[in-house]
Amino acid sequence: MVRLVFQLVRPYRWLLVTVVAAMLLQAAMGVAAPWPLKIVIDSALTTPRHPVPRWASWFAPMLAHGDRMQVAALAAIIVVTVAVGTALAGYVGHYLIESIGQGVANDLRLRAYHHLQRLSLSYYDRQQVGTILSTLTADVTTIQNFASQATVNIVVDMLIILGMVIVMFVLRWDFALIAVAVLPFLIIFVARVRKAIKKTITEVRKIQGDMVAAVQEGLQSMELVEAFEREDIQERQLARISRLSMEAALKARRVRALLAPIISLPIAVCTALVIWHGTSLILRHAMTLGTLTVFTAYLARFFRPVQDLSGQADIFAQASVAAQRVQAILGAEAIIPERPDAVDPPPFRGEIGYQGVVFGYDKADDPVLRNVNFTVTPGKMIGVVGETGSGKSTMVSLIPRFYDADAGTITIDGTDIRSYKLHGLRRQIGFVLQDTVLFRGTLGDNIALGRPGATDDEIVRAAKAAMADEFITDLPHGYDTTVGDRGVTLSGGQRQLIGIARALIRDNPILILDEPTASLDAESEQVVIEALKRLMTGRTVICIAHRLTTIRDADTIILIKDGVVAEEGSHEELMARNGAYAELHRIQFQDEPSVNSPSVEVDG
Ligand SMILES: Nc1ncnc2c1ncn2[C@@H]1O[C@H](COP(=O)(O)OP(=O)(O)OP(=O)(O)O)[C@@H](O)[C@H]1O
Ligand SMILES: [Mg+2]
Repeated sequence: MVRLVFQLVRPYRWLLVTVVAAMLLQAAMGVAAPWPLKIVIDSALTTPRHPVPRWASWFAPMLAHGDRMQVAALAAIIVVTVAVGTALAGYVGHYLIESIGQGVANDLRLRAYHHLQRLSLSYYDRQQVGTILSTLTADVTTIQNFASQATVNIVVDMLIILGMVIVMFVLRWDFALIAVAVLPFLIIFVARVRKAIKKTITEVRKIQGDMVAAVQEGLQSMELVEAFEREDIQERQLARISRLSMEAALKARRVRALLAPIISLPIAVCTALVIWHGTSLILRHAMTLGTLTVFTAYLARFFRPVQDLSGQADIFAQASVAAQRVQAILGAEAIIPERPDAVDPPPFRGEIGYQGVVFGYDKADDPVLRNVNFTVTPGKMIGVVGETGSGKSTMVSLIPRFYDADAGTITIDGTDIRSYKLHGLRRQIGFVLQDTVLFRGTLGDNIALGRPGATDDEIVRAAKAAMADEFITDLPHGYDTTVGDRGVTLSGGQRQLIGIARALIRDNPILILDEPTASLDAESEQVVIEALKRLMTGRTVICIAHRLTTIRDADTIILIKDGVVAEEGSHEELMARNGAYAELHRIQFQDEPSVNSPSVEVDG
């Protein structure tokens, strides 16, 4: 944590030095503030007159040794000077520290986001997006507020306390002891309360994070919620979390509200002692009236920072809770490890091999893949079938290393994929998934997603090959049409064509298709299959399909069952074998006679 703070603050160290200088000045002004009154009382109003302190005479030497009114004028000059100094130092300090705070928050957000991008998908299986969202926004803002506002106050307060304690001891050390006797107890007390506050705030922030998560989930699945008329359930869930958040916030407030009243009591006792004992000292001429004035002024000022500090304890607690939450993201180690000697892979020929691959999401459970073995020769197509939930999608997600296998190896061109650099590996693998997600942006941008920096010409060519050009040019804004968050304005088939254009422009030797036609009706399926055929030419293709027509002409078909490759061979071989595949085929073609129409031919 401390290291993180240092790293974050490092770029701003010169600004920070300036801020510290401003704070020192501000503190010095705070300590000097009651002195003009002392000078007036001791050197102008009372008899005998005491000499003006040496430092004060620097302001205007001739006034310091003049008559009573001249000394009063000197005091007035000091009042104004102190006020101007305080104002200037305060302005510079607060402005500069705000720039540091904003800069740190900016760096922190980018750093956290960068880290999130590198985390393995297994991290997201366990985390709620809403919680991450709330940390990246609310928690970072809390840290920024703390850095830019509270720090100045806290440091200046502490400096002022220190300065005043020193001055008091110099003036009259025995008397000063009475005034500061209570300080250690206050500090211990504040420290203890701070701990309690921190606990309650941790709770509050957690619930607030849950709330963002709940709202986010609810909004994201609004279609589903409305379709099933489950608005009441969502509302009840939110109401529950919202009430919890209210209760937790009130509890935190209760603890905090105790602070000020409890602190004010010992402060009053101290002040009472100082006034009582001080009067007796003055009557015995052991102390001047001016010194007592400075003491009482200090006491009032001196306990204000202490009270402030206890208030800051709260802000400090909030910030440290926020920092812990950010730290939890930055510290998440679900990063897919890259070997130190990893190499940038050469252009793949496209041979893929699975050797004894074992993988499970939940390491405590039975693995999803128990022992998977097969090989795909470069440029060939392998079809993957199996019951729903048998692990087909899981199996292919290991190739780009969204997850790492628990045991066994996956090779591309004979080399373990873990010895390649992650970026170089993923860059050579193309995907078309069951549902193509469109990013907010233009259609052109969405196609170019596969290869940043693609020219307009390349985009159009890819769209033409993917047979998407026709419907895109029919749109009023063509390639410049913007699509919403999740591309709701396009049909499922059109989105798939965009997905294919994306893969085409990326031009990868290895292509993974996970039920690319599953969500389409028979007519759009034909178009998409046509486009896919062009895409597949000359690449190594792994194609997962429920509808057997899609993969009937694959070079090899494998059937996944119980975590292993149960059957392997061409369509004819598997049919002849009369096993699970043949059974699947029989069921499908009884149920869906219409699918018998044009079968897919796959070149390559
Ligand atoms: N992210 C995940 N975290 C935990 N378990 C998962 C995750 N994804 C899938 N599973 C589990 O792993 C098993 C295999 O899922 P997978 O999605 O690979 O099946 P599939 O063969 O692709 O099914 P389908 O044909 O329905 O797409 C299932 O039991 C599923 O519940
Ligand atoms: Mg699947």
